[in-house]
Amino acid sequence: MLTTPQPSSAPARPELDFKWPAEGITRAPYRLFTDPEIYQLEQERIFRGRSWNFLCLDVDIPKAGDYRTTTIGETPVIVTRDHDGEVHAMVNRCAHKGALVCLKKQDNVANLTCVYHAWNYGLDGQLKGVAFRNGLRGQGGMPSDFDVAKHRLQPIRTEKFCGMIFGTFSEQVENVEAYLGADMAQFIKRNLDRPLRVLGTHSQTIHNNWKLYAENLRDSYHATLLHTFYTTFKVNRLDMDGGIILSDEKWHHVSFARRAKLQEAAEYSEAKVHSASYESALEGPGLLEAWEEFDDGITHSIQTVFPNMCIQFTLNSLAIRFFAPKGVDKTELFWIYLGYDRDSEEQSQMRIMQSNLTGAAGLVSLEDGCINEFVQRGTRNDPECASFMEMGGRVAESEKNSRATETAVRGFWQGYRGIMGF
Ligand code: FES
Ligand SMILES: [Fe+2]
Repeated sequence: MLTTPQPSSAPARPELDFKWPAEGITRAPYRLFTDPEIYQLEQERIFRGRSWNFLCLDVDIPKAGDYRTTTIGETPVIVTRDHDGEVHAMVNRCAHKGALVCLKKQDNVANLTCVYHAWNYGLDGQLKGVAFRNGLRGQGGMPSDFDVAKHRLQPIRTEKFCGMIFGTFSEQVENVEAYLGADMAQFIKRNLDRPLRVLGTHSQTIHNNWKLYAENLRDSYHATLLHTFYTTFKVNRLDMDGGIILSDEKWHHVSFARRAKLQEAAEYSEAKVHSASYESALEGPGLLEAWEEFDDGITHSIQTVFPNMCIQFTLNSLAIRFFAPKGVDKTELFWIYLGYDRDSEEQSQMRIMQSNLTGAAGLVSLEDGCINEFVQRGTRNDPECASFMEMGGRVAESEKNSRATETAVRGFWQGYRGIMGF
């Protein structure tokens, strides 16, 4: 029996009868994907604990009065921009009786007003007005010592990094750049540190625990096996030059690959725009028309940020995905397809066309949505059994020359065990 340490702010909780297998991070007990008690503990220790969570993009709320709603774990959150251009985030829960205050995905408003009893908040979450505060005709109303300054929407610490707005409930966690670490921060800057343009969004419900998706993103081993499209049409092969970089705590990662022929072909094309048909077997090669975007030759990358986001760059298809837990066996997966403000119309169209692979209704995302549910269904009745993850070794270390490894999945579990106290 393992007694789990309690964060100082957390209420005392009965002991959780859970012990990680002796094999360590090469095993993940299936109970982690089905146990409601562990799920609740994750809300406390991860999502309301020492983690930074992607909230939205800076360009999602460009004007004063804009708001977006999202979640940190299952906690509903509002992100606003005030009249000074400041961004604020707060829990979407009225300080009166706890109703949701903002009901839409996004809007532009002068203030935030709860529909239940019309308590009224500024864009920074400060309470401004209370309906019938002084009662009616001298009757009723709030006690004379009622003070609006003592009631506000619970604030959330925010920080911007490369056009993204992150939020945390923790006062202790370091700033976002330090949380990412030097290698991770640098790769995000490579991809996002310039004005962004949103090309489209969508979301889908997947019927599996959120951590199965976190694993799947770090699982470079499956890419060319499950996604047979990649090899059939010669889009991505595991023997391409590439590798995995883990952050210091191992819980974030970048998986990268270089598609050599893209580089070679680009040298022959003055405009550096060409059809990938020279090596693909597609009848409609326009799907993969690409141009070389960076000098480092990296054409494929997936980067995760613990706990629940990733940035993908496949050829020119740039997207952010984040996945919100909606119960122990349900997750909502959000996609934001991106380009840069400087893109030409032709480049935007090429990015959108490529998203047919790893995007809405794309072959790759369809398969990942299915496979995580297959794991959920295959494991839910045997909580004491565990997965086996020894491909590429038994530790979580960067592997700069191969993607035939589960090192990043082990890295996820190493970070998870640390923050959960398991
Ligand atoms: S619950 Fe919001 S005003 Fe009453
Ligand atoms: Fe996949």
